[in-house]
Amino acid sequence: MKPKTIVVAGASRGIGKAMVDLFASDTNNKILALSRNVDKMNAAFSKYDNVKCHALDLNTKDVRSKCSAIFAELDSIDILINNAGLLVNKPFTELTREDFDDCYSVNVISVMETVQAALGKMNSGHIVNISSVGGFQGSVKFSGLTAYSTSKAALCSFTELFAEEYKDSKIKMNCLALGAAQTEMLEEAFPGYQAPVSAEKMAEYIVDFSLNADQWMNGKIIPVSLSTP
Ligand SMILES: NC(=O)c1ccc[n+]([C@@H]2O[C@H](COP(=O)([O-])OP(=O)(O)OC[C@H]3O[C@@H](n4cnc5c(N)ncnc54)[C@H](OP(=O)(O)O)[C@@H]3O)[C@@H](O)[C@H]2O)c1
Repeated sequence: MKPKTIVVAGASRGIGKAMVDLFASDTNNKILALSRNVDKMNAAFSKYDNVKCHALDLNTKDVRSKCSAIFAELDSIDILINNAGLLVNKPFTELTREDFDDCYSVNVISVMETVQAALGKMNSGHIVNISSVGGFQGSVKFSGLTAYSTSKAALCSFTELFAEEYKDSKIKMNCLALGAAQTEMLEEAFPGYQAPVSAEKMAEYIVDFSLNADQWMNGKIIPVSLSTP
């Protein structure tokens, strides 16, 4: 397969880390791994010659300019996976303005700003947004996830809007609405809950989808779930 330059946001743990491991196993790929915890990523990925790690906080107001500065070192971007996510699990009336701001900032506004920055390096390619089944219309909903799931629904909506605006370009954007996968995020939010899929298994699907699905679809929101009807 043609060498690809791949950016993974939210790469320090869970599904994002597992994706970087998979992409890095093809030494033709060049991978940029982003999260706040650059030491953790360097420790995990220093064994690969084809992974570069950068610290990036997506819960800030200047994500576009920070991403532009990071992407400046790349000739082009073939695949961008917006995988970083923040989950707040609180009863509706206990949710604060800060909870709403944090979820929307990390889960949707920073994604739009990352894409704005990435477009400067993309003539073609595939952008994959990682949403949740909770943000998918008509899915089973979970109490306590209003801030999180509404922000993930906005991410689904962004995918459709971007695909329309860029339909005459060679840049495709799709969105995967994931069901439960066994990660630290899930364990922290729902202690003891056993997901039917590991982070590594979910990463396998996303990696394959990001490499291939742009040949067949654009602006699509796909539920990827064993556990939700
Ligand atoms: N696991 C599930 O069951 C499940 C289900 C549906 C959807 N999802 C979605 O799948 C994606 C991956 O989930 P996961 O379970 O692997 O989550 P995770 O284990 O919590 O990992 C989340 C990643 O996002 C990064 N991140 C969080 N806040 C950030 C910030 N302010 N700036 C930069 N990076 C930030 C974290 O890095 P740092 O903390 O190092 O910055 C981490 O690498 C998320 O978008 C999540 O919403 C997961």
